[in-house]
Amino acid sequence: RILILDFGSQYTQLIARRVREVGVYSEIRAWDISEEELREFAPSGVILSGGPESVTEEGSPRAPACLFEGNWPLLGICYGMQTMAAQLGGEVQGSDTSEFGYAQIRTAGETALLHDIRDHMTDHGDGLLDVWMSHGDKVTALPKDFSCVASTDSCPIAAMAHGSQPWFGIQFHPEVTHTLQGTRILERFVIEICGCEALWTPARIVEDAIARVRETVGGDHVLLGLSGGVDSSVVAALLHKAIGDQLTCVFVDNGLLRLHEGDQVMEMFARNMGVKVIRSDSEALFLDRLAGVSDPEEKRKIIGNTFIEVFDEEAAKIEGVRWLAQGTIYPDVIESAGAKTGKAHVIKSHHNVGGLPEDMALELVEPLRELFKDEVRKIGLELGLPHDMVFRHPFPGPGLGVRILGEVKHAYAEILRRADAIYIEELRAAGWYEKTSQAFAVFLPVKSVGVVGDARRYEYVIALRAVETVDFMTARWAHLPYELLEKVSNRIINEITGVSRVTYDVSSKPPATIEWE
Ligand code: XMP
Repeated sequence: RILILDFGSQYTQLIARRVREVGVYSEIRAWDISEEELREFAPSGVILSGGPESVTEEGSPRAPACLFEGNWPLLGICYGMQTMAAQLGGEVQGSDTSEFGYAQIRTAGETALLHDIRDHMTDHGDGLLDVWMSHGDKVTALPKDFSCVASTDSCPIAAMAHGSQPWFGIQFHPEVTHTLQGTRILERFVIEICGCEALWTPARIVEDAIARVRETVGGDHVLLGLSGGVDSSVVAALLHKAIGDQLTCVFVDNGLLRLHEGDQVMEMFARNMGVKVIRSDSEALFLDRLAGVSDPEEKRKIIGNTFIEVFDEEAAKIEGVRWLAQGTIYPDVIESAGAKTGKAHVIKSHHNVGGLPEDMALELVEPLRELFKDEVRKIGLELGLPHDMVFRHPFPGPGLGVRILGEVKHAYAEILRRADAIYIEELRAAGWYEKTSQAFAVFLPVKSVGVVGDARRYEYVIALRAVETVDFMTARWAHLPYELLEKVSNRIINEITGVSRVTYDVSSKPPATIEWE
C-alpha cells in the first residue's frame, strides 16, 4: 500500500483516488507523520503531495527526515519535489512569474519513471509530455546524485531522478486529467517501482469489508438508519451480506421524499433483498412541527431534530442492539482529521445520526470509512444494487423541506413531487441525467396568471434547477437543450393542476447556492 503525505494541496485526495484506480490501496496522512506511525504503516512507497506554501520560507513544512533513511521509493509532486530537493542539498527558488496550466515538457535521459511514456516526439527523438503545471517556486539546483530528466523553457528542472535510489521528483501534476499520461506515470511508480500488486478491486474491497465487519461485530446486533441515499444503501447491502439477520434498518419517511421513494426503498431492501427494515411513516409529525415555520435554517433544525427523535424511538424498541452502522466515507474522515490538525483547506462538519438514547451506548461500525464515493458506487454495483440507485444525484437530508420555499405544506409537497418526477423522467429519457450532477424542481409559493383553453388560471410556479459540478462547492448551471426544457414545462403545466408557470434557474454557485434555501 501507498502512503500519501499531505502538504495541503487541493489535489491530495485526487492523488489517492488515482492510485486506487490503478488498483493499489492508498491512504493520506499529514506531512508531519511520526517515524513510528510511518513504520507502522509500512508503505510500499510514499508520494509527497503538492502544497500552497513555499519551501523558501522558514518554518514551511518538511518531509520527515527518516523518509530518506528508509528503503521506500519516493515520488515528490510539485511542493513534494521541492522539499525533497531542499532537504537533500539542492536548491529551490521563488520566481516572479508563476506557471499555471498546460505545459509541454521534454523528457531527457533515461529514467524508470518516465521511460517510454510520451504524448509526442521531437524531430530528435526526445519524448514530449502534455502536463498540467501549477507552481511559483522551482528547483534550481539538483541535490547530490540526482539528474534532471525533464524540462521546459521556463522550468529547466521539471523532473529529477536519483542515480541509485528509487527517488523521483516531478514539478507537474500527474493526478489531474489534464496531464494525459498522469495515470500511466502513477501506475509506473506504484506497480513497477514500488512493486505493488493491483489487488484493490471492487470484489476484493467487498470481501475485505465483509470479513472485517464479521470480525468487529461478532454475533452482536447492528442498527442502521437507512435513507435511500447511496451511502446508507451500500452499507445496508454490505452488512446484510456480512451478517444477515443481525442487521436491522430504520427508515424514517418524513413526508418530504420524492415520488414513491418510500415504497421503492421498502421494495428494494425489505422485499427483494430480505433486509429487516422498520419503516416509520412520520409525515404527520414532521408537517405538524413545520407548520407556520418559513425560515430555512429553522426548518433544517426542526427536520433534523425530529428525525433523531423518531429514529431513537424506533431504535429503542429493538432489543439487544450493540452497534450503530454509519455511511461515513473517506472524504468525511479526511475532512474531520484536517479540521483537527488544521491542514485541510476545505472544512465542513459532516452530519450523521447523533443524539442516540443514552442507555443504548452504541459503538460505531463504519464499513465505508476508507472509501471514496466512486469506490462506494463500484461496490454498490458489485453488491447487486441497481445502476439507477447507485448513480442517483445527491438528495439533501431535509429533502423537499428546503425545496418548498417558505412554509412546508402537504399540498405543496404533492405538487412538487409530481413536477420533480416529470423533470427527472424527461432528463433520463434525453440522456441528460448522467450529464448533470444534480437536478431537481423547486416549489415557489407565489401565484402567477396563465390561460388554459379559454380559462384563466391563477396558480403556483415551479422552478427547474440543473447544475454541473465536481465537488458541489462551485457549480455551473447546466445548459439543457431548449427542446428538453420545453417538453418538461409543457408536461408539468398540462399534467399538474396547481401549476401555471415553469422557469429555469440560470444562476451559478457562487453567488447562488445549489439549493434554493
Ligand atoms: P448548496 O445549496 O449549499 O448545496 O450549494 C451543496 C450540496 O449540499 C446539499 N445540501 C444539503 N445536504 N443537508 C444535506 O444533507 C442539508 O441541509 C443540505 N443543504 C444542501 C445540496 O443538495 C447540494 O448537493
